[in-house]
Amino acid sequence: MASTVPVVTDIAYQDLLDDPYPIFRRLRELAPAVYVEPAKLTLVTRFDDITRIERDPATYSADNPASLVNKVMGPTFMRKDGAEHAIGRKAIEPSFRPATIKEHWAPQFTAIAEQLIDNLSVADSADLFSTLAAPMASLSLMAMIGFREMPWQTLAEWSQALIDGAGNYAADAEIERKAMQASADVDAAIDAVLEDHRSHPNPSILSSMVNADPPMPIDGIRANIKVIIGGGLNEPRDAILTLVLGLLENPAQKADVLARPELWPAALEEAVRWISPIGMYPRRVTRDVELSGTVLPEGLQIGLCVGAANRDGNRFAAPDRFDVTRPKQSHLAFGAGPHFCAGTWVSRLTVGKIVVPMLFDRLRNLRLHEETPPVVRGWVFRGPVSLPVRWDA
Ligand code: HEM
Repeated sequence: MASTVPVVTDIAYQDLLDDPYPIFRRLRELAPAVYVEPAKLTLVTRFDDITRIERDPATYSADNPASLVNKVMGPTFMRKDGAEHAIGRKAIEPSFRPATIKEHWAPQFTAIAEQLIDNLSVADSADLFSTLAAPMASLSLMAMIGFREMPWQTLAEWSQALIDGAGNYAADAEIERKAMQASADVDAAIDAVLEDHRSHPNPSILSSMVNADPPMPIDGIRANIKVIIGGGLNEPRDAILTLVLGLLENPAQKADVLARPELWPAALEEAVRWISPIGMYPRRVTRDVELSGTVLPEGLQIGLCVGAANRDGNRFAAPDRFDVTRPKQSHLAFGAGPHFCAGTWVSRLTVGKIVVPMLFDRLRNLRLHEETPPVVRGWVFRGPVSLPVRWDA
């Protein structure tokens, strides 16, 4: 007989932020979907269930009129289904083509990584969050979008303010003010370059949007650029740091990867499986449906915890272990179905082939800082918030 969604109340929100994995394991073992009171959301944590959900967008919609994303960023294709989603997705596709990535973006991203690692190489210790990963992710996204040059911190601040605004369910006035300010600043930055991109087509995302057939309307351009700023900066930043962390915590694996560079792509996949930069994203149930024996009522908001699914013991052996040599198996770190991450290939290249290999190549004997351990945080977004390291000068 089908059962209803169980409710869990005895979880501290802080524990979810500090280390969600024991909680994810408990939820996975309890039921296919569990209402977690402190998160105010029904969470789905099993690999097979999330895969099934992503194959059925008619029942599990990405379109959510109540979503704060719409309020803060405007009408975006990421929160649409079917034709409306496909038009927005097609409009940005030219910027993400494999040939464009290889010929246009790879040389630019290599130059950015070289500059940042040159700056590092004069010292013998640093926190890689602020000296490498955050500027790398910000400067490469700035170039891809087609913005004028600005300090990397500016784009990073906009990104954080938009993300905070989209998750501001407690209606904190200061968070809302900052999000609305960032939103206005992004609009102004777009206005400053849009005519140039229209008259001089180029591989940037803004150029793809404004020269698409049919061209994307201005409110769509603004909303979709905000989604890309909110969703294209933290994740590569966190993937860079997580990959470095996994290798530094496992010296034998590090030695293996450095001796056999063909392992880099597998190492990147393992890093984002192990600590998925996006741990959870939302869907809305459009009709009464049974998910593996649990009844989900029409209108229910659910959170797909890909960070939990990627540690599902029914899918991955020893799932909590970072292991670059595990047998190849698809994971859900880049999502699945129609909304599969548009930035997957560009991230695989930037993180797994450019910046992290260059870092290990250039900084000799890179190692964790003996006195200051790394700190990893978050569950909706998760990654190292500081990664202090040393190397031989
Ligand atoms: C390691 C890096 C990254 C990870 C782990 C990641 C993960 C994800 C995930 C899980 C989704 C699905 C979200 C949902 O369905 O609600 C997504 C969507 C998306 N990502 Fe990424 N992402 C990464 C990098 C990037 C980058 C660098 C960009 C842009 C330059 C980007 C652009 C997008 C876009 C536009 C979507 C929406 C796709 C759609 O709705 O059709 N991502 N990403």
